[in-house]
Amino acid sequence: MQIIRTVQGLREVTAGWRMAGKTVALVPTMGALHAGHMALVDAGRRRADHVVVSIFVNPAQFGPNEDLAAYPRREAADAAMLDAGGVDVLWAPDVATMYPAGFASSLSVGGVSERHDGAARPGHFDGVATVVAKLLNQVRPDVALFGEKDWQQLAVIRRMAADMDVPVEIVGVPTQREDDGLALSSRNAYLDDEQRAAARAMPRALGEAAAAIARGDDVAQAMATAERRLLDGGFGSVDYVTLCDAETLVPVVAVDGRPLRLLAAARIGTTRLIDNLAVAVE
Ligand code: PAF
Repeated sequence: MQIIRTVQGLREVTAGWRMAGKTVALVPTMGALHAGHMALVDAGRRRADHVVVSIFVNPAQFGPNEDLAAYPRREAADAAMLDAGGVDVLWAPDVATMYPAGFASSLSVGGVSERHDGAARPGHFDGVATVVAKLLNQVRPDVALFGEKDWQQLAVIRRMAADMDVPVEIVGVPTQREDDGLALSSRNAYLDDEQRAAARAMPRALGEAAAAIARGDDVAQAMATAERRLLDGGFGSVDYVTLCDAETLVPVVAVDGRPLRLLAAARIGTTRLIDNLAVAVE
């Protein structure tokens, strides 16, 4: 696996692949890799001849009170995992390469980015859309893969790529979970043993609510019960539990035949966890 740190070096390698008629998959990450990321890599390898994984802890998507400095950075361990996973290139630019002096642009995706995490984390999705647009321009992949765990992020990126006519297929890969259902996340590393045990309330509360809604229970009641389950289970506060249109993320108060997604964000101590589930309505 090659580790590349300059845009020119990256372009030389990917141009060679394209000239040879090979396809390219991109897996954008912020590092601190776990099995969830490796599922994206595996999906990329199944869909393309070459896989590029980017590791870039993107300052533009962290708010002033968020954990940019504390975000785990362990490139050597990540590189070893990616190498063993059959990745061709680790694209690891530094901040000055991604945002050189004079950088002045920002992509803002309306609608889909405005609610839920967009409201809780102002500017977050502008930072995500901007960096992902740059990564897509740098790598020019045929396919780019993102985890469904960050459902709203996936919806924002799909919207951005469609709106900007980026010639790439955006693929969502199902959430990878621990045995007790907790979604794999780099943020799980912040949880102590007691918090980790409490965190299982998140998939349980969502699973119960999704099943209740699917069998026709009142939507507002199901979401209120989920919120109560999170608080009783050990979460300190709940940012939101919401049922929404799976594509536009507009909240839904009753089941109406559209694909629906149940989203939640809640805090244990200083750690904010998010998760989501499809609601399978007949
Ligand atoms: O999901 C992430 O790790 C990041 O938000 C992404 C998509 C790599 C953009 O920085």
